[in-house]
Amino acid sequence: MERIDKILAAQGRYSRREIKKLVRDGQIAVNGVVITDSSVKIDEFKDTVTLSGEPIALKKHIYIMLNKPQGIVSASESGSERTVIDLVPEPLYRKGLFPAGRLDKDTTGFVLITDDGDFAHRILSPKNHIYKTYLARLEHRIGEAEIKMLENGITLADGTVLKEAKTEIAEDTDTPLVRIMICEGKYHQVKRMFAAAGNRVISLHRQAMGGLMLDASLMLGECREITADELRQLENEK
Ligand code: URA
Repeated sequence: MERIDKILAAQGRYSRREIKKLVRDGQIAVNGVVITDSSVKIDEFKDTVTLSGEPIALKKHIYIMLNKPQGIVSASESGSERTVIDLVPEPLYRKGLFPAGRLDKDTTGFVLITDDGDFAHRILSPKNHIYKTYLARLEHRIGEAEIKMLENGITLADGTVLKEAKTEIAEDTDTPLVRIMICEGKYHQVKRMFAAAGNRVISLHRQAMGGLMLDASLMLGECREITADELRQLENEK
């Protein structure tokens, strides 16, 4: 059991002072009963808290799956440009949200948005081998030799080393669709890998992070919260 003002303040959405005021104004209810004291203790796993009638997630951290459309920047702030954080709907929004790993502005698909820095670090660190799966539409056919090259890793002319990628052809056409899995996230990594193999990426989509697939029912621009089971899947199923 923990004080309600402490739990809510830890989420970063409201300060302790703002929470006191909301309580004074009768805006907060615990299990359907309006509270008048912001020091009331609650059980964050069992109790239901509402703000102006809307349920509030009490968890310490939040993990959100977004199906990113083209034209949106993977950053928390970007001047006048729309960012992935602008697509998080109000009930899931908190201060301190950021994308755990970036997709290029023209890349679509799975972006994980969270306020948990340790988690983000863990899933992005190449040493933890959490593979990110992409579908790349290519300008030209790709041969065995090029696939081998990507699978062995590539050293670019400027000395940058791009680690080995698991690569397979998903659709064998004149502009093939290739599934490529990488566990590091260097700038334009997938595009640079295919360029080094003499090809060009026409469009790029992130399909999965670790063992967690992007939810096929999410339309471009839509988000949903990731469950605890799915988080385990992401980190443990490689
Ligand atoms: N590699 C790229 O080139 N772009 C992305 O958006 C992600 C991986």
